[in-house]
Amino acid sequence: MNRAYAQMLLRELALRGAMDRYVIISTKDVGKRIGISQQSASRWLSELETEGLIRRERFGKNMKVKITPAGINILKRIYYEYSAIFGIPKIIKLKGTVISGLGEGRYYIMKEGYRSQIREKLMFDPYPGTLNIKVYPNYVDNARNLREANDIILKGFVENGRKFGDVRAFFATIEGYMGALIIPEMSHYKDIVEIIADVSLREKFRLKDGDEVEINVYLLS
Ligand code: CDP
Repeated sequence: MNRAYAQMLLRELALRGAMDRYVIISTKDVGKRIGISQQSASRWLSELETEGLIRRERFGKNMKVKITPAGINILKRIYYEYSAIFGIPKIIKLKGTVISGLGEGRYYIMKEGYRSQIREKLMFDPYPGTLNIKVYPNYVDNARNLREANDIILKGFVENGRKFGDVRAFFATIEGYMGALIIPEMSHYKDIVEIIADVSLREKFRLKDGDEVEINVYLLS
């Protein structure tokens, strides 16, 4: 069995909650997320089951999957190895509500100057736009702390004589889904943060203005 695919699949299933319970998945969707075809995803899932790393059941057109204790051990081992490399990440929590902006996020994210760096440094192709979150007052200090942290820099550029500034980026999950929190150099809001991801978060989580969301920002000291 291809260990790299096995590990990627286990990680993707775990991110969807399959360590604790059966989760419903579509093989197409899971395959897409890790860059393999539906057929390959199907085959690897079947191998994972044969090796006793997951349990699965048919669920209509989809399937229900849960990771076994043996599968969890594989993920733990990988985690311990990365901990040995990086140490333990600091997690900064932010909570707030979804708000609409001025529709500018899309314009910036679609600029190839930023987009190519997002692909390269954050490893996803961003959905065109930024989800704006107004952070609750008691989380504003956490958001402010981020302004002093440095993780990934999307370098500014000049296009047709116009200057686009540096943008700092941090890996972050929103409602458990991995994307990134970005802080444009020019931004001066203290209580609004912007999230990017490879999907429309409004569609994925059926979010409308005023809905509460939770963000975990990951930092290595
Ligand atoms: O400025 P505003 O937030 O209104 O718009 P935008 O940044 O151009 O993003 C377009 C729309 O997509 C907005 O409704 C965002 O909230 C939403 N969005 C999303 O649902 N998921 C993302 N990953 C990025 C943006």
